[in-house]
Amino acid sequence: MEGEGSVIRNREALTEEFLPERMFSRDGQLQQMAQCLAPIAGGSSPRSMMLYGPPGTGKTCMSRYVLSQLSEQASFHHAYVNCWNFETRFKILFSILQKIGADPSKHRVGTPIDEIIEALARKARSRQLVVILDEVDRVSDEKAVYDLVELGACVIMIANNETATYKWDPRIRSRLSSAERIAFPKYRHDELEGILKDRAEWALMPGSISLKEIVRIAERASGDARAAIAALRAAAEKAEAAGAGKVTADMLSEPSGRKDRQAELNRFQIAAVTQLKKGPLPSGELLELITKMTGEPVAERTFRKYMEELVRLGMVRAEGEGRWRRYSVS
Ligand SMILES: Nc1ncnc2c1ncn2[C@@H]1O[C@H](COP(=O)(O)OP(=O)(O)O)[C@@H](O)[C@H]1O
Ligand SMILES: [Mg+2]
Repeated sequence: MEGEGSVIRNREALTEEFLPERMFSRDGQLQQMAQCLAPIAGGSSPRSMMLYGPPGTGKTCMSRYVLSQLSEQASFHHAYVNCWNFETRFKILFSILQKIGADPSKHRVGTPIDEIIEALARKARSRQLVVILDEVDRVSDEKAVYDLVELGACVIMIANNETATYKWDPRIRSRLSSAERIAFPKYRHDELEGILKDRAEWALMPGSISLKEIVRIAERASGDARAAIAALRAAAEKAEAAGAGKVTADMLSEPSGRKDRQAELNRFQIAAVTQLKKGPLPSGELLELITKMTGEPVAERTFRKYMEELVRLGMVRAEGEGRWRRYSVS
């Protein structure tokens, strides 16, 4: 039980793991995804998908939501993999197998990959396999995606950018060419308001936040539902700490900027930004300096991926292509 003057009644509803009962302003995407998956109910093969759009546009949440809805009507194997944490071919396939029921006496780290694939194939023969590959641009070996397609799995790939898979092996890209591309644009203010109102109803005590504050949070979130919900949580926590019982304007924090984004960077990216602050550098030289700074080699391809992300975050500017590419801080 929450005490007198408390603001938050359901803390979990303010976390990333929380799966809302309704998805707002995403009817088009919901329909597209449902259509791709519909064949499962009739025992035929669903269509793979590529969901893309900036952070906080509901890609992860939506794919979890759609699968959870579908699993109430149809029986299929499904697994969610975040490729930030599971990036190699083995890690991806092994983690899927673990999620859909690996045999711990047979399958463990060190099991030959062929055996993992064979075990997945057996599972996939019994029921349709659907795999969400979140942050798919983090995959270090796209062969894993090829393996899944070969197994007849439906793959729901998620990335910030439609171009995430452009550098993949052409054979794999060609196998995925029929995947449905589904765009997740940034939310408009009024759409974020809808999401926030619903979330506040779940998470907060009635009357503890007014529409005016919700509108302000929505305006400051730049189309990002994650940022909006995080701001709602921060404000509610402040109100609670102050014993105010209600969120007021002074409890809303400034729009999140560079500081928040920096928290997500890895050590190579931090080293790159530190170097570039001293002046622009050609790609090759920057890679050398980073290797020296971190004392750890980084593959050129991985380096390029990290740099692209910095560019996408607006923290680094890039000019020229290939070995002529030059980076600078914007
Ligand atoms: N349409 C929506 N309706 C309700 N909640 C949403 C919606 N879109 C996003 N959210 C919430 O916003 C947060 C970020 O969404 P997420 O799916 O993780 O974004 P992405 O994967 O695109 O970065 C999550 O807490 C999610 O529950
Ligand atoms: Mg996500």
